[in-house]
Amino acid sequence: MDRHLSMELVRVTEAAAISSARWMGLGKKDEADDAATTAMRKEFNHIPMDGTVVIGEGEMDEAPMLYIGEKLGQGCSPEVDVAVDPLEGTNIVAKGSWNALSVVAIADKGNLLHAPDMYMDKIAVGPRAVGKIDINAPVTDNLKAVAKALGKDMGDLVVVILDRPRHEKIIEEVRRVGARIKLISDGDVAAALNTAFEDTGVDILLGSGGAPEGVLAAVGLKCLGGEIQGRLLPQSREEFERCKEMGLDDPNRVLTMDDLVSGDDAIFAATGVTDGELLRGVRFDGKQAATHSLVMRAKTGTVRFVEGTHRLDIKQIL
Ligand code: FBP
Repeated sequence: MDRHLSMELVRVTEAAAISSARWMGLGKKDEADDAATTAMRKEFNHIPMDGTVVIGEGEMDEAPMLYIGEKLGQGCSPEVDVAVDPLEGTNIVAKGSWNALSVVAIADKGNLLHAPDMYMDKIAVGPRAVGKIDINAPVTDNLKAVAKALGKDMGDLVVVILDRPRHEKIIEEVRRVGARIKLISDGDVAAALNTAFEDTGVDILLGSGGAPEGVLAAVGLKCLGGEIQGRLLPQSREEFERCKEMGLDDPNRVLTMDDLVSGDDAIFAATGVTDGELLRGVRFDGKQAATHSLVMRAKTGTVRFVEGTHRLDIKQIL
């Protein structure tokens, strides 16, 4: 993959973030998502690549744009798998809350897991705790291992968990062992990435969220030298069969970094839609929009934070 693609991808997430940020706090999550998707789809037309959506807005019959299998880019080499989440955190934007992102990841063709749209159990950490986690081990063991790897006391550790009834047992165990918790309403891609940035104050992500989000987080963490392990959680016979159709012979097996994103190269880009620990949300000032993005490449380990200002009359995205 050409390294210039990194900056091309930032343009895509910037456009999606600007469009969806207009819907912040308006209580309309679908409209915010549509705005992000339309803006993102348009920007992909300019990218010199032959991309195929493997993680997108849904199947062809349920999503008009950025559906699984859709071709993106100008059709020239390189051939890449594309994972998109034009608006990661639709409820977050509807409420004007924290950590909504626009996210894109690409890897050489065949290197991204074609994750079905279902739940995935996840555990994620930053570079200093790589190799110390095991999704099959009890929560307590993982927390002890991560605390040790980070040189922290258990009471210093912060575990980020989606605030859902299904996580009651995990929350109980984390509290029992004496670690602290950051419960989030939505947005576990940002939460997984945050584990790799000490300033964000979170050390480990636990619990289940969307499987597509798990693949996006894996690309981000691959670029950052972190780790995520996952396990699909099919909720019905239908979902179980869906895993098999997508090439996952044993839907219950642990998915490692290499299963989620293989090969030595991948590019990840995200732009903040609302404010978060890592990225600021979009700011409007009448004529311009200011964006804050993160773009990273696995092969080189380059991590860039990009500040953008965009003249809205030229962008014509609103
Ligand atoms: P959406 O942007 O699709 O609303 O996803 C937000 C999110 O919080 C993800 O970050 C997370 O993986 C998933 O939803 C969790 O699903 P659920 O809300 O069903 O627990």
